[in-house]
Amino acid sequence: MSISIKSEKEIELMRESGRILANVLEEVMGMIKPGISTLDIDKKCAEIIKGYDCIPSFLNYNGYPASICVSVNSEVVHGIPNKNRILRDGDIVSLDCGVIYQGFHSDAARTVAVGEISKDARRLIEVTEQSFYEGIKFAKEGHHLHEISEAIQKYVESHGYSVVRDLVGHGIGRNLHEEPQIPNFSQKRRGPRLEVGMTLAIEPMVNAGRYDVYWEDDDWTVVSDDGSLSSHYENTILITKGEPELLTIRR
Ligand code: MF3
Ligand code: CO
Repeated sequence: MSISIKSEKEIELMRESGRILANVLEEVMGMIKPGISTLDIDKKCAEIIKGYDCIPSFLNYNGYPASICVSVNSEVVHGIPNKNRILRDGDIVSLDCGVIYQGFHSDAARTVAVGEISKDARRLIEVTEQSFYEGIKFAKEGHHLHEISEAIQKYVESHGYSVVRDLVGHGIGRNLHEEPQIPNFSQKRRGPRLEVGMTLAIEPMVNAGRYDVYWEDDDWTVVSDDGSLSSHYENTILITKGEPELLTIRR
């Protein structure tokens, strides 16, 4: 397999898929408040996706049982919605969702506050988001993938945080996960050269403490080893000759 280059027609469908997902996430973010369960979030999310005539891409993906991943505090990613998991004032919660529109996937994540959160938690969320923007400064035709990874890592570590190493971003299109893998940390390889028409899901996962993680017994939920807070931010982007196009941001 190699990295797929999307045609203009395919890009149009990716744009629509991303536009819809940005709206889905916005609507889901609007319901986040103390007292709701993570299962409430999943139910609402599934309804919203249906309303857009899209398919929730996560549902049944490798057996994943929900339409959205909801990961609270030290949970890094892939938290499974549960009626007994109630959001509390001061929590941070990552919402990671994907849709399929006319055969084309989009994938995005946001980490948001539940009620009032600590300054430290706020800073972690901000640094994670900004690391994405630092990374995509290099998401341009002619640059190497590695430059994105390196920029994310540098920014995160300069703020005293760690990038998770056991999970990576990815190409995306007709499949949720396509080549290439996109680590959020530097490796020796330069990685592939970026070309116009590539669509990528860039997704820094940042721990306030150490980067080590473990998998819970459900085989999905990834948690920081040291129990530190973790934040996630992701968008599906399109490589162009100039600035990348952010397909999952509301415009
Ligand atoms: N957003 C995740 C990713 O980037 C996908 C979640 S896995 C699933 O790879 F099973 F929940 F779909
Ligand atoms: Co992803």
